[in-house]
Amino acid sequence: MATYRIRHCERLSGEVSIHAAKNAVLPLMCAGLLTREPVTIEHVPELTDVHTLLEILTDCGACVRRDGDRHAPVSTLTLWSDDPHSPTSSDLLSRMRASVLVMGPLLARTGYARVALPGGCAIGQRPIDLHIKGMQALGAEVQLTPGSVTLQGRLRGGNVYLDFPSVGATENIILAAVLCKGTTRIENAAKEPEIIDLCTFLNAMGAHISGGGTGTIIIEGREALHGCTHRPIPDRIEAGTILCASAMTEGSVLLRGVRADHMRAVLFKLSETGVTLRESPAGLRLTGRASQPVQVRTLAYPGFPTDMQAPMMALALRLRGTSVFLETVFENRFMHAREMARLGASIRIEDRIALVNGGRILAGTAVTSTDLRGGAAMMLAGLAAEGETILRDPCGHIARGYEDLPGMLNALGAVITVEETTDS
Ligand code: UD1
Repeated sequence: MATYRIRHCERLSGEVSIHAAKNAVLPLMCAGLLTREPVTIEHVPELTDVHTLLEILTDCGACVRRDGDRHAPVSTLTLWSDDPHSPTSSDLLSRMRASVLVMGPLLARTGYARVALPGGCAIGQRPIDLHIKGMQALGAEVQLTPGSVTLQGRLRGGNVYLDFPSVGATENIILAAVLCKGTTRIENAAKEPEIIDLCTFLNAMGAHISGGGTGTIIIEGREALHGCTHRPIPDRIEAGTILCASAMTEGSVLLRGVRADHMRAVLFKLSETGVTLRESPAGLRLTGRASQPVQVRTLAYPGFPTDMQAPMMALALRLRGTSVFLETVFENRFMHAREMARLGASIRIEDRIALVNGGRILAGTAVTSTDLRGGAAMMLAGLAAEGETILRDPCGHIARGYEDLPGMLNALGAVITVEETTDS
């Protein structure tokens, strides 16, 4: 179990480099099931989710080569699959939501996929009906059994309308359709930058995908795909988390290697708090004092990302007045608010709305990381609290999605120590 000890921090300042995006890397890794030729992903972040997915892909018959490790400047991952098959371990799949992305490639490549229903953060029901609906539109026969789903059939192109622009469902359908005979059209597709990155990657493998980043994606199926080398986009959520930390402490922070064009909604909201953001060839700099409360409504991209709701709420604890958060994407994503209240925060939750009465003095105490982004937000809240905050992360949520968040904050002047203990 990880326990973080976070000292109150007056001011963050300095520079940090942003890692590659977790949510881009995971689907790219699953594309390694699509070909016998090596696909190489550069600058892979050191995350528990990456390790778990590597275990799952190996369990599916993929071959993996990893060059470099956390002490090397760059870690490169190469994957290929001569003879892929369905995973044998349901335990591994239940550990992370993105494991469901093996379904599309396996089905397209072998005509059969049996996968356990995925796990991940308990931030809502997180069904996979849209993934399944997409596979059915491509001709798969589906059999649901308690805890798992079996799909089979020779796929061919089809038309899919997503009732909600689900990121995972869009990715899964793309990953299947690239090897289908015929043309697939996805309507109301997700537009996230990670979708564009996946399309770029697959096109480099010889796929024919157009419309990535728009609501209509068209895929002309190919007989086979080949290898490629790709560097994923930077992590806009890691970048946003560090910017919130800086804004909370009246800091002056330069983010290197960031794509500001992927973060417009977050940057607008940060500007509304009163801070100054400046883009330059060196990176993205945030300076000044955040003071004005905000109104945040989470939406699919290009709206405000649900993954930034918790870190933004940590910032709202510092803003005098009432900030309003409306969570429209997941139905159970305010678990961190209860932990923030332990530090002395005043937050009222009504259904999907959280009202944060900011500007109160917070006092460090023992709190728990409830989920990935909620855990990161608690680390930020700990910076604002007087004295020391002890953040317990029994499920290792934070390391699932951030490569050394405490180390990045410490490089900017925070004092956070990490203890790894085994549960008794
Ligand atoms: C991805 C991200 C996650 C982010 C989320 C929303 C990855 C690995 N994870 O998760 O960090 O918070 O997008 O931006 O990229 N839904 C259904 N049926 C489905 C699929 C989804 O009802 O078949 C619902 C979900 O319950 C949720 C909403 O759609 O309420 C959004 O989910 P989705 O976009 O699919 O999120 P993920 O791909 O799981």
